[in-house]
Amino acid sequence: TTVLGIEGTAWNLSAAIVDEDDVIAEVTETYRPKTGGIHPREAAQHHALYASDVIERLLREYQDKGYSPQNIDAIAFSQGPGLGACLRTVATSARALALLLDIPLVGVNHCIGHVEIGRWKTPAIDPVVLYVSGGNSQVLGHRAGKYRIFGETLDIGIGNALDKFARGAGLTHPGGPKVEEYARKATSYVKMPYVVKGMDFSFSGLSTAATDALKDNSLEDVCYSFQENAFAMLVEVTERALAHTGKSEVLLAGGVGANMRLREMLDVMCEDRGASFYVPEKRFMGDNGAMIAYTGLLMFDSGTTLPIESSHVDPSFRPDTVDVTWIADEQE
Ligand code: ATP
Ligand code: FE2
Repeated sequence: TTVLGIEGTAWNLSAAIVDEDDVIAEVTETYRPKTGGIHPREAAQHHALYASDVIERLLREYQDKGYSPQNIDAIAFSQGPGLGACLRTVATSARALALLLDIPLVGVNHCIGHVEIGRWKTPAIDPVVLYVSGGNSQVLGHRAGKYRIFGETLDIGIGNALDKFARGAGLTHPGGPKVEEYARKATSYVKMPYVVKGMDFSFSGLSTAATDALKDNSLEDVCYSFQENAFAMLVEVTERALAHTGKSEVLLAGGVGANMRLREMLDVMCEDRGASFYVPEKRFMGDNGAMIAYTGLLMFDSGTTLPIESSHVDPSFRPDTVDVTWIADEQE
């Protein structure tokens, strides 16, 4: 089976063609705001401007490797969650392509895309997944035919919290990697709010408190303390999800997963519990076309396609509403 997938929920427009074995071709065009964070309308304009170019380059790369577009069985696209204007742009391209090639359309949940590419590209089989990016922060895992959300942010994603704080501190976007750099040079810990409610967490108060703390403390110390607090919250909920489900693997996904301190803390927690910890290659962690194409392939092969007339996007599409038709329900 071969599937072409398109991702464009936020700032990355990326398309890929995959089969069961590997990513055959991938082309990405990233929207980079001139100032500040993502402007949703500008991001959508960027995607609209580059969509046909990205698809053309992708098909050329595919043909240069000796394949014919006639091999493609389905077109997958990220249906949500994400920025409405971006989602609509990508969906329009996907529909046009499905009609042109006369093949089915598959609508993919973006969060599940992160999970499935991680399961494909690491040895993880049935992990608790910590998905941390700009817009999303969730702990999820498979149970009884669905990807359940065990815990999630009550306000903003951890990446956006880091970016917002970093902007306030005069650092350029994206702030996450810069905060990580400064944190390495810290000399002392500054007390910050630690907010875990049940299995959920919150980052917006932490981001504000960190900005305030800059008045009396060094940037290095505040970056360090922000990270220690935020990551401890994420690790606590991930650990409780492990205990709760009896699973024995943790998979890290999303752009914030690039952070070495977060990886270290998760690694220590997993070691303590005798669980295995998996991190995919960096190109499969942030938003990428391959994750949509591959999840589309799993869905298509298990009989799930989307009629064009009901292929509307969903900016708040929740992963736990999707029937996971491609994983057999075991003993659960
Ligand atoms: P999504 O649509 O899933 O929300 P996204 O648009 O936020 O994704 P990603 O590439 O998954 O895109 O994540 C980007 C985020 O990752 C940014 O907020 C950025 O600051 C953060 N980030 C990147 N590298 C690091 C790092 N080393 N430490 C912390 N955060 C990081
Ligand atoms: Fe993402």
